[in-house]
Amino acid sequence: MLESIRSRRARLGVIGLGYVGLPLAVEFARAGFVTTGIDLDPAKVRAINEGRSYIDDVAGADVAELQSQGRLKAVADFDALRDLDTVNICVPTPLRKTRDPDLSFIVAAAEDIASRLHPGMLVILESTTYPGTTDELLLPILERGGLKAGHDFFLAFSPERIDPGNPTFNTRNVPKVVGGLTATCTELAQALYETAVSTVVPVSSPRVAEMVKLLENTFRAVNIGMVNELALMCDRLGIDVWEVVRAAATKPFGFMPFYPGPGLGGHCIPIDPFYLSWKARQAGFEARFIELAGTVNGAMPHYVVTLVADALNTLRLPLNGSRVLLAGVSYKRNVDDIRESPALDLMALLGARGASVSYSDPHVPTLSGRLWQGGVDLEHVDLGAVAPDAYDCIVVVTDHSAFNYDDVQRAAKVVVDTRNAIKSPGPNVVRLGAPRPAMADVAGVIA
Ligand SMILES: NC(=O)c1ccc[n+]([C@@H]2O[C@H](COP(=O)([O-])OP(=O)(O)OC[C@H]3O[C@@H](n4cnc5c(N)ncnc54)[C@H](O)[C@@H]3O)[C@@H](O)[C@H]2O)c1
Repeated sequence: MLESIRSRRARLGVIGLGYVGLPLAVEFARAGFVTTGIDLDPAKVRAINEGRSYIDDVAGADVAELQSQGRLKAVADFDALRDLDTVNICVPTPLRKTRDPDLSFIVAAAEDIASRLHPGMLVILESTTYPGTTDELLLPILERGGLKAGHDFFLAFSPERIDPGNPTFNTRNVPKVVGGLTATCTELAQALYETAVSTVVPVSSPRVAEMVKLLENTFRAVNIGMVNELALMCDRLGIDVWEVVRAAATKPFGFMPFYPGPGLGGHCIPIDPFYLSWKARQAGFEARFIELAGTVNGAMPHYVVTLVADALNTLRLPLNGSRVLLAGVSYKRNVDDIRESPALDLMALLGARGASVSYSDPHVPTLSGRLWQGGVDLEHVDLGAVAPDAYDCIVVVTDHSAFNYDDVQRAAKVVVDTRNAIKSPGPNVVRLGAPRPAMADVAGVIA
């Protein structure tokens, strides 16, 4: 097996060709392996086999080249697993409505592998999950047919650390943590990743590797929660939190800047820490930092609504009936991913108070009514093309580089900037976590 990996003769597979799985499959194919992606979504399978990419961070030209060379293909049929030597599982791990882990995607993938598991196969789970998933959940399913992990087949966990939209760090140059069930499992998984990733960091077990990922994401959630609370405090004290963080970040050691915002978004930070707190609870341990950060971060969209209501109040306008536009609906700058975006919460909260809600986001041309609790399908508004004061209020939710903030300020009577994105704010701009403009100034601008 080691030899077939090193010589690139091993046939590789990736289950789940999303934000994580497609870049990984492309890196394996680029490293010289024949790589097969398996996905339930026929549109993704078709795109790969036609040489097209549907993920911003993966160049279409790369997919086209690897596909035409026969090194990358996609299938929807799990029988392909019978001919594969390795398989990386990159399926979603969402939360249920009750905030309990939803492992149904991992279980489904494991069942599909189990019935096709063959001696010598290497199985690696990459989906973010609680410590224990690999050995408590995956292992028994895979061993059901009688093959023994560590002897007949090999099993490891390796968390994905991809950062969509990051121009510097990608699948190839971010170190990969690997924890196998046995030393041989770790060795094989390490050998596989070393063909495609610059640095591999072996750890002693799958549980450690699972916990590493949750430490990383909990670290972010807790620090963002802390700075969000500081922003609320600064609002009350009349201090500019952005100036405070900027100055604190000049300390060359012992400080790392985190920035406040309208709430957490994406598939990771709002979700992963709750996988850990759920698991800790099973062991009778209450993860207090995680719960507190969740409470503070979860309340941020409500705080933004009060900022909007206060800003409209300076104009003697009620939220009910006001035209409010959200600038940016994806969960972070320069990406098209709207999963868990705080913009969706904001739209629902504003809509429920009677505001007429619209949005501008060059990365998200349309927004289905199914995605937010207003039920109305919306289309991206080009702010360069609207009349002055077309909106009563614009809320800057995501600081895409494509936004022209002169257009933003021209298009609305008041602007609520939740990202400190506007570099030269006029008197009608209210910034989250910063002293509010005097009421007379805002009203004066409008008059
Ligand atoms: N997106 C990120 O930035 C990121 C970063 C690090 C880790 N992760 C983790 O990686 C995992 C995958 O996330 P993602 O963002 O790539 O998700 P995604 O939704 O973009 O992709 C998942 C893919 O899996 C497919 N799928 C679902 N069930 C399947 C099954 N049983 N068989 C085959 N295909 C199946 C879906 O059709 C989809 O294409 C999650 O656990 C996530 O927490 C994501």
